[in-house]
Amino acid sequence: MKVSVSFLSEVLNPVDIIKKINDTSAEYIHVDVMDGKFVNNKTYSIAEIEKLSNYMKKPMDVHLMVNNPKKYIEKLALLNVEYITFHYESVKNIDEVIDLIHNCGLKAGISIKPSTNASEIIKYLDKLDLVLVMSVEPGKSGQSFMNSVLYKIESLKKVIGEKGYKTIISVDGGINEETARLVKYKGADMVVSASFLHDGDMLSKVNLLKEI
Ligand code: DX5
Ligand code: ZN
Repeated sequence: MKVSVSFLSEVLNPVDIIKKINDTSAEYIHVDVMDGKFVNNKTYSIAEIEKLSNYMKKPMDVHLMVNNPKKYIEKLALLNVEYITFHYESVKNIDEVIDLIHNCGLKAGISIKPSTNASEIIKYLDKLDLVLVMSVEPGKSGQSFMNSVLYKIESLKKVIGEKGYKTIISVDGGINEETARLVKYKGADMVVSASFLHDGDMLSKVNLLKEI
């Protein structure tokens, strides 16, 4: 399975975590952007991401938990970003945001909160490179995985398979060895993880997730 490591932490320094991620076999560095509006917490500004990107040796997988994703896209496109994922619940004109991301030469993702039904995003799947299924309420790391989202992974995977779409399914929140196995079994292609990987030997833990 593909692994994207988040450096979101209330205690550790982001640069220290990024340096550790660089040494692992993870595909991506997951950047959790929060505006204090879409979610209560606030994290990195574009300027801060730009500074942090100087330490990164892997492409970014950006997760925008913000009310106005459009204002971030063009600036992020100047950095080593592969995916920009925004929240389905945050904007009215979904197609416009997907198109903007694609026009900037990046891959586009939509994320859904635990309470949002998978059926709501099915009509966008053919245009999407990634769907990010949240398995915790967005806003902070260190929360427990919600088993109730497993059926969503299964139903999205079914549609993607039937229609022959290239969209990958990523799952974010409370991922550890056990929950990664559960989501893989339901059809996830990628997992995002922070707290599980920050604690202990990140290199071998990433290898463990990759082998699932
Ligand atoms: C939550 C973030 C997640 C978070 C994951 O709002 O989107 O990416 O960093 O943290 P863990 O793996 O600790 O649940
Ligand atoms: Zn995230």
